[in-house]
Amino acid sequence: MSSQFPASRPRRLRRSETLRSVFQETEFRLEDLVLPIFVEEGIDDFVPITSMPGVNRIPESRLAGEIERYAHAGIRSVMLFGVSHHLDETGSDTWNDNGLVARLVRTTKQAVPGMIVMSDTCFCEYTSHGHCGILHNGEVDNDATLVNLGKQAVVAAQAGADFISPSAAMDGQVQAIRSALDGAGFNGTSIMAYSTKFASALYGPFREAGGTALKGDRKAYQMNPMNRREAVRESLLDEAEGADVLMVKPAGAYLDVIRDIREASRLPLAAYQVSGEYAMIKFGALAGAVDEARVVRESLGAIKRAGADLILTYFAMDIARDGL
Ligand code: PBG
Ligand code: ZN
Repeated sequence: MSSQFPASRPRRLRRSETLRSVFQETEFRLEDLVLPIFVEEGIDDFVPITSMPGVNRIPESRLAGEIERYAHAGIRSVMLFGVSHHLDETGSDTWNDNGLVARLVRTTKQAVPGMIVMSDTCFCEYTSHGHCGILHNGEVDNDATLVNLGKQAVVAAQAGADFISPSAAMDGQVQAIRSALDGAGFNGTSIMAYSTKFASALYGPFREAGGTALKGDRKAYQMNPMNRREAVRESLLDEAEGADVLMVKPAGAYLDVIRDIREASRLPLAAYQVSGEYAMIKFGALAGAVDEARVVRESLGAIKRAGADLILTYFAMDIARDGL
């Protein structure tokens, strides 16, 4: 690059709205977005989540109607989280054929068969202690938890889930789930692994949303947010174990990691704009500090630009309603 200014004037391509849009490099589509929802058993009314303005816990009895509404608005995929009233030491409700996980998947598929259903596959919303697996002497027992992840995955697949999405952060969870699914005849059911999942402070509002009982933290199984090499390693391990789609979570503060994994793997890559990212944008906008619609589009566009194919975001219905 020898000749620069005054010959080079990047502003030439920004002079009109038309020029700017013709030369825009990154777009996102409604199809790229996955709406995560919280569905609670045993309640009759929607319950607002105060740390996530605009997001409610949905009563199980209203789920079918909500799914129809999302489909009508153009949403293609949902990630289901159950808010359980049946907690125990192991989270056994998750592998009960008629437990909350199975019912949510079935109800969603019955309401709109074409809706892509991703079933969050973990235990923290079903355990009395709030950890993502079985506790032994105060530690989450990795290999004992794998067995239960396999059981939950088969129940969700049987109920009609398109994607099993393990978020427990156990080593070997993708392999355990793949072999359980294949052993039960579900070799067509996909796995979207939460393959690079950081122990992030940005999950704060989710804890209210999901009503988990957790005291303490998940740092013994989720990743240190300061580790970039390990972030790539984690996703490549899940690819080798048979994941169909990889994921980085959270998204906005980890764009470098999204780019690294995009370059290290050929699998589709998802990124999860988590509850705390949602809350920061919402409360910033409510305080009059930023323009919500513009910040939402900028944040989602940046996640795409970094290399994500899919984005899980609580703003998906707002985008569906107001357009891109
Ligand atoms: C639990 C789970 C969490 C989220 C998704 N699944 C919380 C956690 O790991 O502590 C966070 C989602 C969000 O904050 O939006 N396995
Ligand atoms: Zn969990």
